[in-house]
Amino acid sequence: MTTDVTSRPGTGQESAASMRRITDDLLQRVEDRLRSFLSAERARYAEVEERAVVAVDALSDLVASGGKRIRPAFCITGCLAAGGDPDDPGIVAAAAGLEMLHVSALIHDDVLDDSGQRRGKPTVHTVFSERHASRGWQGESRRFGEGVAILVGDLALVYSEELVSQAPSAVRAEWHQLRSELTVGQYLDVAAAAEFSVDPRLSRLIALIKSGRYTIHRPLVMGASAAGRADLAAAFAEYGEAVGEAFQLRDDLLDAFGNSAETGKPAGLDFTQHKMTLLLGWAMQRDERIRSLITEPGHTPAEVRRRLLDTGVPEDVERHIAGLVERGCAAIADAAIAPVWRNELTDMAVRAAYRNK
Ligand code: IPE
Ligand code: IPE
Ligand code: MG
Ligand code: MG
Ligand code: MG
Repeated sequence: MTTDVTSRPGTGQESAASMRRITDDLLQRVEDRLRSFLSAERARYAEVEERAVVAVDALSDLVASGGKRIRPAFCITGCLAAGGDPDDPGIVAAAAGLEMLHVSALIHDDVLDDSGQRRGKPTVHTVFSERHASRGWQGESRRFGEGVAILVGDLALVYSEELVSQAPSAVRAEWHQLRSELTVGQYLDVAAAAEFSVDPRLSRLIALIKSGRYTIHRPLVMGASAAGRADLAAAFAEYGEAVGEAFQLRDDLLDAFGNSAETGKPAGLDFTQHKMTLLLGWAMQRDERIRSLITEPGHTPAEVRRRLLDTGVPEDVERHIAGLVERGCAAIADAAIAPVWRNELTDMAVRAAYRNK
């Protein structure tokens, strides 16, 4: 794609329509990159051994099964808002690498959370456990399924690194922080669930570092870095931290009160897995009975939901989300980007915080 210099992002000349067109075009190129990368890998392994393509196919199926592509969108928007060159294949590689890392995290997360559904389909470990059982293979089916999911998730992790290695080297520092943060954040999430002690400060930290940072903050800063605009890092970090936390708090509300047919994930899983979310932490501070409803067998999600609503905490979380969106948007009010991109980032903040899937 060649871009007319007068509509070049970041110059302040572009209209909302040209911004949309350029962004959509880049997002399409990310899809093409993911697809071509995976089909080349499939072809390579098909020559080695028929069974080997199964792992690549399991990953390709999940990549192809949808997803909102939020991380590529923030990376691309960060780059374009910073005046980056839309024709640079490096930004496509960075955005594709971010989605690949996300898919790796999802596959592993579903093992950690014992979840049976992702993007409206059975999770990787479930598919392979069931395959093992139905074929009467040796060993434990659950162990086999989870083992395969660890490997397919690792494969995605390795591929994400390969993709990002084709991005401008300026994204590297942010990328490395993002990867370790996500992993440590996931550790904190399972540790807090096991301890199940109320600690709202920790709950907020977990939402931020297992999710908000790798979803919004760091992809945005990676995009700006690819465009050579390190000066935007502080404003984008403040925006990304606030909107990133809001994104995860919405995820927690959707788990509790959302519609599984829309989210493509099981409903009420955070209750079963006694996740120490801010929602549950605040609710347990107000109603002691919620702890036993969650930790003792036999509760139904409907009972927990009813009790949670009685505490008034869901409204408090909504207010907190609204405050975070406001704070995020205020952080970019004076950032040196064109108004059309400020508006786009404002819309993206609202979409991330008020999604229903
Ligand atoms: C789900 O992320 C995992 C979290 C970090 C909460 P998304 O809500 O972006 O999932 P997809 O990619 O659209 O499926
Ligand atoms: C997981 O958070 C975040 C990552 C995948 C790193 P959740 O466990 O809440 O995500 P969902 O709800 O399963 O998508
Ligand atoms: Mg999960
Ligand atoms: Mg999880
Ligand atoms: Mg969740």
